[in-house]
Amino acid sequence: MEEKLSSVAKTLTPSPIQELSLLAQRCNAVNLAEGFPDFPAPSHIKSAAVSAINSDFNQYRHVQGVCDHVAMIMKHMHGLDVDPLTDIAICCGQSEAFAATVFAIIDKGDEVILFDPSYETYEACIKLAGGIPVYVPLDPPYWTLDADKLMKSVTNRTKAIVLNSPHNPTGKVFTEDELETIAGACHTRDCLAITDEVYEHITYDKEKHISLASLPAMQKRTIITSSLSKSYSVTGWRVGWAIGPACIVSAIRNIHIKITDSAPAPFQEAALTALRSPLEYFEWLRRDYESRRDYTIKLLAGVGFQVQFKPQGSFFLFVELPENCVLSDVAFVEELIKQAEVVAVPGCGFFHRNLYVDQLSPADYSYQERYIRFAFCKSDATLAAAAQKIGELVDSSSGLLKLFNFDRKATDI
Ligand SMILES: Cc1ncc(COP(=O)(O)O)c(C=O)c1O
Repeated sequence: MEEKLSSVAKTLTPSPIQELSLLAQRCNAVNLAEGFPDFPAPSHIKSAAVSAINSDFNQYRHVQGVCDHVAMIMKHMHGLDVDPLTDIAICCGQSEAFAATVFAIIDKGDEVILFDPSYETYEACIKLAGGIPVYVPLDPPYWTLDADKLMKSVTNRTKAIVLNSPHNPTGKVFTEDELETIAGACHTRDCLAITDEVYEHITYDKEKHISLASLPAMQKRTIITSSLSKSYSVTGWRVGWAIGPACIVSAIRNIHIKITDSAPAPFQEAALTALRSPLEYFEWLRRDYESRRDYTIKLLAGVGFQVQFKPQGSFFLFVELPENCVLSDVAFVEELIKQAEVVAVPGCGFFHRNLYVDQLSPADYSYQERYIRFAFCKSDATLAAAAQKIGELVDSSSGLLKLFNFDRKATDI
């Protein structure tokens, strides 16, 4: 039967994150792999959904109020003037908003710039549309954007640049200078930008999320995609949106209607309550995640990781394996599941090599097997269970050795 599959379907493989999650479930492991909260969503938002179902908002539906609120938030957060009637399409999460955007603007052979490491679904959508992903590596350990690398990769075949900030998996928030570089590349090559801003409300310390669309002359070139998922801890509700120039949004809406018709009606209704959340809610969200971040950093530092880059946003820690650990990222995660019953994601799930390999030696990419992503969007109980399980290993005489498979000489010192 496999020969009946389309050639593009054959190129799409199951996500390593999902596979590891299944392994973790089988081993009853503590899940620090998947990027969804395992604690309850805010109760007033849940009540709004329950009452929408009881009020029989259970049929296909477009809730214009969602667009009205999103437009107001865009004005308030970024000073953007967005027409809620023409410039916003409600979709099933950022995922569908992104896919519909790609289908709306990418033709076969168009190149699309992605920053590496990168959230894994972008590449699949671009390939489904016949586009060609071109990766520009961010430089570890701070994941800085090198303007030269970007400018060398953007050509007259480039149709769009994808920007995810705050960033999954690194926790990086792109700086104003970096945003200006990206905007400059868009202007120079007359290309579009697609932003993924799902972590827009989750930033730490003094960091503030700036939308690329708010840079001079960028709104007309940018399609913002985002959703309720992360800001309100409701990843299963599947309500998101794309914001952009009216003619592109009209195409996105047409694609969305052909594929899914509408986002879930009761959850669009509940989105009205979520989007009206007071500023204090977002302050609480930031503080809450900041303390989970700090707890997880301490946990990992305690077992030998050197957390060089402290996440500035999103809810992931992307840490390098200790220098004297001889395991690869994948082998480390397998050991972590088996020995400590804790699951995380090997960094290779987010890294790619492409045109740049021609200019850099494979050794320059060796860091790609050295990173592990830990999600800290987890309840106190989950984080404490992870700490306990990892701690037990470390406390046992050979535990650390078993976990990290340290080079013996290094551990003997
Ligand atoms: C960077 C990024 N974008 C998008 C998503 C998915 O968003 P949604 O649930 O709105 O489809 C995720 C989920 O992990 C993510 O990390």
